Amino acid sequence: MKKTAIVTGGVKGIGWAACQALHRDNFNVVILDWDDRGSDQVMHLGEDSLFIKCDVSQEQAVADAMQKVIDHFGAIDVLVNNAGIQRYSTVTETTVEEWDLVMNINLKSAFLCAKHAIPHMQKVGEGVVINVSSVQAFLSQQNVAPYTTAKTAMLGLTRSIAVDYAPEVRCIAVCPGTIDTPMLRDSLALSPDPEAVYEECVDMHLLKRIGSPSEVGELIAYLASEKSRFFTGQAIRIDGGLGIMVAGSKRN
Ligand SMILES: NC(=O)c1ccc[n+]([C@@H]2O[C@H](COP(=O)([O-])OP(=O)(O)OC[C@H]3O[C@@H](n4cnc5c(N)ncnc54)[C@H](O)[C@@H]3O)[C@@H](O)[C@H]2O)c1
Repeated sequence: MKKTAIVTGGVKGIGWAACQALHRDNFNVVILDWDDRGSDQVMHLGEDSLFIKCDVSQEQAVADAMQKVIDHFGAIDVLVNNAGIQRYSTVTETTVEEWDLVMNINLKSAFLCAKHAIPHMQKVGEGVVINVSSVQAFLSQQNVAPYTTAKTAMLGLTRSIAVDYAPEVRCIAVCPGTIDTPMLRDSLALSPDPEAVYEECVDMHLLKRIGSPSEVGELIAYLASEKSRFFTGQAIRIDGGLGIMVAGSKRN
C-alpha cells in the first residue's frame, strides 16, 4: 500500500524540496503549513497530495490536522518536522515573546506533531520521524541565541523519540549548513550588503558553495525510505564541511 508522508513547512524551501522528492518516490504527501500557497503547491505535485493549513505550534490545530490525514489517506507513515523561523538576537536582547515564538515554532511544533502522529504509526507497527535541525545544533553564530537553542534541543527530542518508540518508530535529525531558501534570502536582505554576507556563507563551507534545497530533500527522502532502515537516533549533518577545518599550516 502507498505510504503517507507529512511535511511541516512544505510550501517552500527545504520542505517543498522534500515534498517533491517524497512524491516522486511514491508517497502520498501532506503539506502542513500556515501559508495559503500550499493549495498551489499540491496542484503542482498532483494526485495523492493534500494541503492542510495549520500553525504547527498550536496543539489543537496539529491534532485536527493529523485526524484529517487519517480520514483522507488512512495512515501516517512518515513525519518530517521541518517548519521553522529564523530570528537574530543575543540572550540580553531577546524578549520573552520572541524567545517563546522561536521555541514554539522551531521546537514545540516538532513535539506536538510527533505526539499526535506517533500513535498512528504505532497502530501499523512502523514509522519514521525526521526532524530538520541545523548545523547550529553543533556550532553557533553570534546573535542567534533562541534559534541555536531550539535546534540543539531538537537533537534531544530526536534521541528521546528514537529510544522511546524503538523498534517500531525510527527518528533521525537532519542538520543542514547554509541552504539557498527563502529563509536564507530573507536573512541576507536584513544586511546592508547582502552580496558580501552571501560570499561569507559560501566561504565558510569547505566545499565553497552553499547547499540547494533539493540536496536536503533527497536526504530526507532517503531517510524516509526502507533503504535507511538501520538509522535511528542520529543527527546527520549535510553541511558542505562547514566548521570542520581548524586553523593550521597551509598546504600551499
Ligand atoms: N535555509 C537554511 O540555510 C537552513 C539551514 C539549517 C536549517 N534550516 C532549517 O530548515 C527548515 C526549513 O528552512 P527553510 O530555509 O526551507 O525555510 P523557509 O522560510 O524557506 O520555509 C519555511 C516554511 O515553514 C513554514 N512555517 C513557518 N512557521 C510555521 C508554522 N508555525 N506553522 C506552519 N508552517 C510554518 C513557512 O510558511 C515556510 O513554508 C527550518 O526548520 C530551518 O530552521 C534551514
